[in-house]
Formats: sequence, structure tokens, C-alpha cells
Amino acid sequence: MARIALVTGGTRGIGEAISKALLGRGYVVAASYAGNEEKAKAFTDETGIGTFKFDVGDYDATVAAVKDIESSLGPIDVLVNNAGITRDGFFHKMSKEAWDAVIRTNLDSLFNVTQPVFAGMRERGFGRVINIGSINGQAGQMGQVNYSAAKAGLVGFTKALAQEGAAKGVTVNAIAPGYIGTEMVQAVREDVLAKIVSRIPVGRLGEVQEIARTVLYLAADDAGFITGSTITINGGQYMH
Ligand code: CAA
Repeated sequence: MARIALVTGGTRGIGEAISKALLGRGYVVAASYAGNEEKAKAFTDETGIGTFKFDVGDYDATVAAVKDIESSLGPIDVLVNNAGITRDGFFHKMSKEAWDAVIRTNLDSLFNVTQPVFAGMRERGFGRVINIGSINGQAGQMGQVNYSAAKAGLVGFTKALAQEGAAKGVTVNAIAPGYIGTEMVQAVREDVLAKIVSRIPVGRLGEVQEIARTVLYLAADDAGFITGSTITINGGQYMH
């Protein structure tokens, strides 16, 4: 039987590539999104993948949505925690709102989405939790104290939860992308982005498919001995 996957933030950017890659590999995929209706509709029209609108930072809404997804598709075997936002700005000028929004969406969401599926994965003796982190959680990034803190938190979450799932066939891993050619990265001011790209040894931004392929690798049934890892994919920008 086909395995069931939920990709949060699965209709755009890296998440869109992950949803499509999983579909191509025979998974039944659900993609969540927070607000961009137009893009979600275009995504479903193109792929046939069902989308579910909820805010991963809202615990009650997320629990209800996961229940809804599981009752329409079946128990989730593969969870890709991909949804994330940036609110960049230097720390001395950072508002509490910009701090809270990033921690809520990028870190609290890991509890909100994973908690409702984890017990079921353990009971069934199989599960894959794949958390999309960032180079900036590993290296730190000026202008991103909030984002770097959340993404570093994601690594601790991954390592601790991996230990809880290990004996039950549930693996928990992270992928730490570098600068990938998504809208999120293209939003960085041109001259600043050029400076960043000049520091990438491979000499270019990454492609979304380069992250999606690694998700397929970690999600596979025969990847059961990989757990608690953070796989770095950043063109050599930071060697971890
Ligand atoms: N790398 C190198 N230099 C940087 C930099 C960076 N990431 N961020 C800022 N700087 C430099 C600027 O080039 C500028 O240098 P000069 O004075 O020599 O021109 C200096 O720091 C001050 O920056 P700004 O003039 O831009 O200051 P600002 O207050 O107008 O804006 C900022 C500050 C919002 C942080 C802006 O600089 C910025 O957006 N920086 C990029 C932050 C970043 O890397 N975000 C990643 C987004 S993509 C993502 O998050 C995905 C992922 O996981 C990788």
C-alpha cells in the first residue's frame, strides 16, 4: 500500500518540490499551506495533490487539520516539517512581533504538527519525520537572529526525538539547505544576495530538487538506520 506523506508549506518553494517528488515516487501526498490560495489552487490543478489550509503555528488548528487529513487519506507515515517564514532585521532593531512570528511558525510548529502523528507512527512501527532546517541554524546569520535560533532549535528537536522513535521504527532527521533559488531567498536585496552567492564555493544558488531528492532518500523504507542526522546541502558554503 502507498505510504502517506504530509508536507507542510507543501505548495510553494522547497515544499512544492518535495510534494511533487514524493508523488512521483508513489506516495499519497497532502500539502499544507497557510495563506496563498491562488498558488495552492494552481498547485492542485497541476499535480492533483490535495491541499489543506492551516497555520502550523496554531496548535488547535493544526491538531484539527491533521485529524482531517488522516481521516480522509489514512495515517501519516512520512511527515516533512517544511513550513517556515523569515522576518529579517538586525537584532537591535528587531520587534517582538518579528521574533514571536518566526519562533511560532518555525519552531513551535514542530511540536504542533509532529505531536499528533508521532504516537501513531510508534504504534505502527514505522515513521519518517524530516525537518527542514537551514545553514543559518548551523552557522548563524546576521539579520536572522530569530530564524537562526529557531533553525538551531530544530536540530535539538531532531536529535532528541530521534532517540524516542529509534526502537519503534520511526526515524527523525533534518536537512539543512543553504541558499536555494526560492522566493524567500530572492526577497533578499539584490546586492546583499550577490555578496552571499559570492561566498558559495559551488558558485550558484541551490535548486529545490536538490533538497527534494534528499527527502526521498530519508523517507525510504531502507533508510531506517539513518536517524538523528542533519544532512547539509549548501554548495560548500558552511561545512558542518
Ligand atoms: N551576508 C553578507 N553581508 C550582509 C548580509 C549577509 N547575509 N546581510 C547584511 N549584510 C551586509 C550588507 O551587505 C551591508 O553591507 P554594506 O554596509 O557593506 O553595504 C550591511 O550588512 C548592512 O546591511 P543593510 O544595508 O542591508 O542593512 P538593513 O538594515 O537595510 O537590512 C537586513 C538588514 C534586513 C538584515 C538585510 O541586510 C538582509 O536582508 N540581509 C540578508 C539576511 C539573510 O541572509 N537572510 C536569508 C533569507 S533566505 C533564508 O532565510 C533561507 C535560508 O534558510 C538560507
